[in-house]
Amino acid sequence: MKNSANQVYPVIWHNDSVSLIDQTRLPNEYAFVEIHRSEDMAQAIKTMIVRGAPAIGVAAAYGMYLGAREIITRERTEFLTQLENVAQLLGSTRPTAVNLFWAISRMLKTAHATEGSVEDIKQVLFQTAQAINAEDLQTCQAMGDHGLTVLPKTPAKLTLLTHCNAGALATAGYGTALGVVRSAWREGRLEKLFADETRPRLQGAKLTAWECVQENIPVTLITDNMAAHCMQRGLIHAVVVGADRIAANGDTANKIGTYSLAIVAKAHNVPFFVAAPFSTVDFALSDGSQIPIEERHPEEIYQVGDTRLTPEGVEFYNPAFDVTPAELITAIITENGAFAPGDLAKYQLKQCVN
Ligand code: MRU
Repeated sequence: MKNSANQVYPVIWHNDSVSLIDQTRLPNEYAFVEIHRSEDMAQAIKTMIVRGAPAIGVAAAYGMYLGAREIITRERTEFLTQLENVAQLLGSTRPTAVNLFWAISRMLKTAHATEGSVEDIKQVLFQTAQAINAEDLQTCQAMGDHGLTVLPKTPAKLTLLTHCNAGALATAGYGTALGVVRSAWREGRLEKLFADETRPRLQGAKLTAWECVQENIPVTLITDNMAAHCMQRGLIHAVVVGADRIAANGDTANKIGTYSLAIVAKAHNVPFFVAAPFSTVDFALSDGSQIPIEERHPEEIYQVGDTRLTPEGVEFYNPAFDVTPAELITAIITENGAFAPGDLAKYQLKQCVN
């Protein structure tokens, strides 16, 4: 859904159901899918109608409410058992983005903590899903502002590079990495954005480019293998990407190709920023080697539209994410400020103590 300022909201509650922008049809078609059942929400997440770590967290929260609404029993224990099944279904869709599990777990905890009738619990679950959606939007706007404080001070107008789509479409709205880009544009600090096309699903070419065009943000699309050349030529002042899961030590899983971008940035002294909310940090994992990496269908590699690119008989490997070691990351920009990767856990600990 877009408002009059062309702001994009990929997941909204509308007419007693969830309205999702169908991201598999962009940029050629701006269409919506109405989701009434938790099973359909699970399918929408799996097939990437909705994608991007925070956005699938918001979608899963609504999916939990839809699932709760489908449960007929008025008996509390039976209701909570059936709700666990809904959580299992939604949690089985995509393994890497931790926001999915964070949102499901928050919804389950809320259900268990709510006293009163099953109807009361359902009502509170609806309010919690709405709150998760609203909080994510605010979080992204805060991240955008914190991002401005760490971007290079010179030149006055920066050329930034991003990978995949970490924009409004990947969140409740505004975006994480693209939120920083939006804030830079608003403050007159952006010359232009370079966007990697992001093989194999082309989120950069299809989604990031589309978002920029909606708001007249100057965008130059490159194929993934052009980034090193652009940095060598001095065309890029900083890289800003999103994250799907950050381990306690700051190692960061994001769209496949992010790791090589970080290595290239290091080689050319280009600062490399990750923008992500605290809901993307998985403090249960000490380092990035423990992050589960989703492998997707090889068709994403061998097929473009109806055209097969490769001969029969070839084998494929299609990991959807990779892990960038913390030492390659200049700072992680969150809703609570920008941190050196190793300082995230210290900050969290301090919050728990206070
Ligand atoms: O496979 P996708 O399109 O869900 O992957 C998305 C990304 O990797 C994004 O960079 C990440 O989720 C951050 S979104 C704010």
